[in-house]
Amino acid sequence: MSTRNLEGDSLTQAVLASFAGTPDDRLRQLLGAVVEHLHALAVEVELTEAEWAHAIDFLTRTGQMCSDQRQELILLSDVLGLSMQVIGLNHDSPPPVTPSTVFGPFFVEGAPQLANGQDIAGGAPGEPCLVQGRVEALDRTPLGGVTIDVWQADDEGLYDVQYSDLDAPRDRAQLRSQDDGRFWFWTVKPEPYPIPEDGPVGELLGASGRSPMRPAHIHFMARKAGYEELVTHVFVAGDPYLDSDAVFGVRTPLITPFERHQPGTAADGTEMSSTYWTMRYTLVLAPSDTN
Ligand code: BEZ
Ligand code: FE
Repeated sequence: MSTRNLEGDSLTQAVLASFAGTPDDRLRQLLGAVVEHLHALAVEVELTEAEWAHAIDFLTRTGQMCSDQRQELILLSDVLGLSMQVIGLNHDSPPPVTPSTVFGPFFVEGAPQLANGQDIAGGAPGEPCLVQGRVEALDRTPLGGVTIDVWQADDEGLYDVQYSDLDAPRDRAQLRSQDDGRFWFWTVKPEPYPIPEDGPVGELLGASGRSPMRPAHIHFMARKAGYEELVTHVFVAGDPYLDSDAVFGVRTPLITPFERHQPGTAADGTEMSSTYWTMRYTLVLAPSDTN
């Protein structure tokens, strides 16, 4: 097919034809869909050259903002709902499997490995909170030996990596479930926080009048051979942002009550001299396809 004198649909068809010889079937399918959708978008909205240039500049700056510490392109995918769309397509196990949600930018490899019952807060500001977790298989039998990464923001709404003056990890840890499936740790009660707003994604939210807020949550990643890796959060019931999450990550089974207690003996035997919170949650893992 000639590449000369083309416009509108004939141009789209010529570009599709130019990729028709792509040897990898899946790559050919993906490239074709990208071309079709991009051309259809431009035609539908009658894209001006100024708008095209603005979009190129926005994407360029989004890419330039990325570093080892920051992934602005994934953040863009998150606020466009693309991340949750992809998660929905790839993690569609029905209940009682715990739903997956966005990974987020604040996971750090190599968090401190702590024993059950320890305090992962490391001095982070916030009210103490005892998390009592359990991991189960699909048939609800307990799963021991599950590696569980936990990370969260403090009550200022900040992750440790967002402080410039911290030299040790805070509010993150790696734990292991016992044979009875239980794992537990002390932390601080999480609070809602805004996603990073000082880059192009913040501009986009501002220009569209959207809130950057996420409802309070604790991140969990649970891994055991023979089971699908679970990346999820547990959200605080009653949070004002549960229905307006900036990244569309809330699923109802992930919401659980956090209960406030007066000073006294906590469920794990710790003597608490101040008020504190407790939360219980069960993570249910799906068997992996290769089982
Ligand atoms: C988070 O929960 O850590 C997060 C997720 C997506 C975008 C920004 C933050
Ligand atoms: Fe988070």
